[in-house]
Amino acid sequence: MNPQSLPLFPPQASTIASEVDALYFFHIAVTSFFSLLIAAGVVYFAIRYRRRSNAESPPEIEGSLALELTWTFIPLLITIVMFVWGAQVFFHINRPPDNSMNVSVVGKRWMWKLQHPTGQREINELHVPLGRPVRLTITSEDTIHSFFIPAFRIKKDAVPGRYNTAWFEATKAGSFHILCAEYCGTEHAKMIGRVVVMEADDYQTWLAGGPTPESPIKAGERLFVEMNCVTCHRPDSAGRGPILNGIFGRAVRLQSGESVVADAAYVRESILNPAAKVVAGYQPVMPTYQGQVSEESILNLIAYIRSLPMPAVEPGK
Ligand code: CUA
Repeated sequence: MNPQSLPLFPPQASTIASEVDALYFFHIAVTSFFSLLIAAGVVYFAIRYRRRSNAESPPEIEGSLALELTWTFIPLLITIVMFVWGAQVFFHINRPPDNSMNVSVVGKRWMWKLQHPTGQREINELHVPLGRPVRLTITSEDTIHSFFIPAFRIKKDAVPGRYNTAWFEATKAGSFHILCAEYCGTEHAKMIGRVVVMEADDYQTWLAGGPTPESPIKAGERLFVEMNCVTCHRPDSAGRGPILNGIFGRAVRLQSGESVVADAAYVRESILNPAAKVVAGYQPVMPTYQGQVSEESILNLIAYIRSLPMPAVEPGK
């Protein structure tokens, strides 16, 4: 931290930080201007038009169309600017680039558990390369937390049973705070960590140091066998469950006639509550895995299913 600067604001260390700040300062400027204008007006009018004698009675005023139009359209224009500008920043924040690397974030009283696409796990620390978009898939094991990196201007709730997404692209090497921004119990204030932004080469060196871990896809593949998923979801269509190859991200038709996109949330629900959305043509025979599989294992299973290629021949046709 530069000691000469009063640290009212965290550093700007991601591509969206300056966008968020520009919008924020615009709001501050507009609201300050009107607060001052109104306060000054109140004081000025109170003095200028004060009652000078008890006998004085002011003239009646009928109103002014020009004045009313002015105080309607100027604020309207300003709020439209705020809305359009805000929407642009909102979309930018909420649309991770396609080439992002995936990092999973699991909040737990009272720590952050993070995993890299190559399998490295970290607790309360996240090493990322400079200049590369990183997509965070955020969930929680117990209560609601909120994953907050002030220097990147991102903050997203970690909600049990749900996957939230955030992304950033770091623009400065260095170490920045990770905070929990949702009161989650006695040690909420200690639920802090840091994100370490490294040059791309240093990041590769960092990844290569330490034992080679199991990647989420490999771990998911192992779990798929260990948990006996493989006996029903066989890739040869001879099982009792639907084949999972190539389904991720695509629409799936359900028994109920509706269809649902097979995204991370759907896969998770199907593992924990298989009867909720049964695929058309199958029976609700799958047992629940509620309580038998951790959030991290589910994320690994999702990574594995996401990685399964389309079958070469459409089965059953
Ligand atoms: Cu976790 Cu506050």
